[in-house]
Amino acid sequence: MYSVITGWGMAVPEKVLTNADFEKMVDTTDEWIISRTGIKERHIAGPDETPSTLGLQAGRMALEKAGITPQDLDLIIVATVTGDYSFPSTANLIQNQIGAACPAFDIQAACTGWIYGVITASQFLKTGAMKHILIIGVETLSKITDFTDRATCVLFGDGAGAVVLSASKTKGGVLGWTFGSDGSDPERLYRPAGGSRCPITPENVGKSETFIHMNGSEVFKFATRKMGVAVEEALQKAELTPHDIDLFIPHQANLRIIDAASRRLELPPEKVFVNVEKYGNTSAASIPIALCEAIASGRVRQGNKIAVVAFGGGLTWGALAIEWTAKHS
Ligand code: ACO
Repeated sequence: MYSVITGWGMAVPEKVLTNADFEKMVDTTDEWIISRTGIKERHIAGPDETPSTLGLQAGRMALEKAGITPQDLDLIIVATVTGDYSFPSTANLIQNQIGAACPAFDIQAACTGWIYGVITASQFLKTGAMKHILIIGVETLSKITDFTDRATCVLFGDGAGAVVLSASKTKGGVLGWTFGSDGSDPERLYRPAGGSRCPITPENVGKSETFIHMNGSEVFKFATRKMGVAVEEALQKAELTPHDIDLFIPHQANLRIIDAASRRLELPPEKVFVNVEKYGNTSAASIPIALCEAIASGRVRQGNKIAVVAFGGGLTWGALAIEWTAKHS
């Protein structure tokens, strides 16, 4: 069996923060943010917008596209590091709200989470154990961002993207994949407080350690080193080469990182999908949101070979080689 994408959907909060808004909040400029990251604006969740509400919207759209009902789902996987609660999982909440009766769990691999979810789901589909799985990548990083720290606050945005993966006897879908972790230095990108090692207390509430900490240049170097290699590995498993790629959808964290990976793979700009300017880095939601927009703009056609790749906290990385089989867009 093959695991093919049959449905897709996305949701972003209404509120938008532009670079001009950040110029009023921290010591930064539109010029600095655009030249260093490519980001112009990002969507920010309101108090009532959470991973379960955004994930639910994206998930419902994906089911509708796939033409299946919630009862047809065999599993729901949600990739997020900013779930509604420590527990139960956000997938559990969405399972109930969407009206499904299947098992549901969260996975955590920061920005690589959606790719981890797709790889996990594919195993159940390929063995014939399951028929339809909903995989949602969703994040509200704004809720753990220090809006006084110019080095991180301009980078992130909130949103959700979802796909339905279905079992198919016809060749296509996820043909190659790779994923990995390097836990040797987790502090390159992490949230120091809020877990069991350092719980939130009256003393640290609102303090720097309760927000995202990142060694930007270390993560940058790691990403530029890993992305191209990961894509090549996934393509190799699918018996493809970079020359076969019709569309490259990299994690939308930073335009300079995207450019570096595209150069390494010798891909011209017309084969690279970029929307980082509108959303910033939405972490686990970044690739499924980009996929939805690529489909909506007519850049994905039946038979296309699509490479996707992400990197993130952990540090983690992952890539997929996909043959697009869906007829409608
Ligand atoms: N506005 C103006 N100046 C700034 C800002 C800002 N918003 N942020 C940092 N600076 C300053 C720094 O303080 C520094 O000043 P100094 O030289 O006086 O100390 C200067 O700009 C240069 O800082 P660098 O960190 O060297 O800037 P760099 O060119 O490396 O860009 C950036 C920083 C954009 C963060 C880059 O390192 C990057 O994109 N790294 C990867 C980050 C990433 O992708 N993270 C997401 C991972 S995915 C996940 O799991 C969530």
